[in-house]
Amino acid sequence: MRNKLVAGNWKMHGNLEDNAALLEALIANMPKPGNNTGYAVCVPFPYLASVQSALQDTYINWGAQNISQYEKGAYTGEVSADMLNDFGCRYVIVGHSERRMLFGETSQIVAEKYAAAQRAGLIPILCVGETLEQRDSDITEQVIDEQLKAVIALTGIESLAKAVIAYEPVWAIGTGVNATSEQAQEMHFFIRELVWNKYGAEIAADKTILYGGSCNSKNAKELFSMPDVDGGLIGGASLKAEEFVAIIQAAGE
Ligand code: PGA
Repeated sequence: MRNKLVAGNWKMHGNLEDNAALLEALIANMPKPGNNTGYAVCVPFPYLASVQSALQDTYINWGAQNISQYEKGAYTGEVSADMLNDFGCRYVIVGHSERRMLFGETSQIVAEKYAAAQRAGLIPILCVGETLEQRDSDITEQVIDEQLKAVIALTGIESLAKAVIAYEPVWAIGTGVNATSEQAQEMHFFIRELVWNKYGAEIAADKTILYGGSCNSKNAKELFSMPDVDGGLIGGASLKAEEFVAIIQAAGE
């Protein structure tokens, strides 16, 4: 049975007071997850300790939004996988388009970060997706193929069994323009098929593939009803408890 996941990506938002209120509301209102459903919030590094203490006895998991590809050493400003483990993280987002585009992370660097996360037992949420320009140039599939290939070349196809993939079209992130459920389904199916055909992996059938990009309480149900959409990676809407809870409810329906 394929696992479903709804993960919030807080990005660079929040403060101690707002976070505490948000988590309190989430804890109070989230439905109990079914056997194959999980929830998580991926938060800025400085808040990991307080998020851990707020969530440790709940069914909400937590994680980070970035990780160093290096284990330890003279890497000023970086945060290692072991450090994330010290704060009980289960997940870490790697290869978010904001990291790729604003911080120069190549697919090779993303693959190294993915590998570092898995070495430490963390579950990487690997983001892939095309820009509008790439979609308009009809190279969407090529782009996603290249993004996935870099990871598989470094860590092997089996590594996907311990990872989550998030399809996040760049043009849909933070824009209010989500992919239609048909567009999302088409790309999720493409990713599943690519893993299956190209690498001959049965892993594909069980792979959790999330949709991300302007997913909210209004469109979540329709997006999540598609056969190859297994939940969402939620940015803006994960900062409002009511919205995030409604999205989670949509995943459980
Ligand atoms: P958004 O962001 O939901 O605000 O579009 C999603 C993401 O960047 O993961």
